[in-house]
Amino acid sequence: MSIQLSPRLRRIADYVPRGGTVVDVGTDHAYIPIWLLQEGVSERAYATDIRPGPLERARADAQRHGVADRLTLWLCDGLALCPPEAVDTVILAGMGGETMRGILERAPWALEKRLILQPQTKLPELRRWLGERGLAVLDAALADDAGRIYLIWLLGAGQPEPEPAVDRALLRKRDPLLRPWLAERIKRAGKELRGLASAQSPDETALAARRRELEALNRIYREVSLW
Ligand SMILES: C[S@@+](CC[C@H](N)C(=O)[O-])C[C@H]1O[C@@H](n2cnc3c(N)ncnc32)[C@H](O)[C@@H]1O
Repeated sequence: MSIQLSPRLRRIADYVPRGGTVVDVGTDHAYIPIWLLQEGVSERAYATDIRPGPLERARADAQRHGVADRLTLWLCDGLALCPPEAVDTVILAGMGGETMRGILERAPWALEKRLILQPQTKLPELRRWLGERGLAVLDAALADDAGRIYLIWLLGAGQPEPEPAVDRALLRKRDPLLRPWLAERIKRAGKELRGLASAQSPDETALAARRRELEALNRIYREVSLW
């Protein structure tokens, strides 16, 4: 029986080109690589996780779905065991922005691949860091999964956007999830701003960056509300 992907995982998998060879970092259940192999999108796939438990379950699932001989599972930190020449696409999903940044810093070769990211936290910081390394968001998508909205980026070499608060791709597509997603982000950014401001000796640079982000989000939210 074919594996069913949740809307979030499906949006991520949709960015993998037919024939693409993928490594899914922090794979947990390995649903994405199993699905890519089952659907014939990929001939071979790789996945890593830092914990043995998920990989054991992933191995059992891959066997049940008849793709175990084409899926290599590595127990390691990030991309430590992945030879750069083995893959053309790197997926990092469901992890915090700082964890993703650490993984990419330890394997800078991954920045030259087709990079698909679905960060859970620290989106602006991660986006800025990627931009400083010459990476731009080539496309972006939102996925509604059990009432929570997730952002997915397809990254590649390019000019970083001048206004990084909201990806141009989302505005261009007039994604109907944009408004509720912006409302969530405004709430979260406001909370972070209050947290920063209430510190004993507030970090003025971080405060100014959060204020700018919040202003931009509010402005875009007002524009989107007029659509
Ligand atoms: C919340 S799960 C996300 C699973 C899957 N990628 C998804 O999006 O549904 C995060 C997974 O990343 C793994 N992980 C965390 N840090 C890691 C690292 N440095 N290297 C490899 N895997 C890591 C965890 O063990 C966990 O299985």
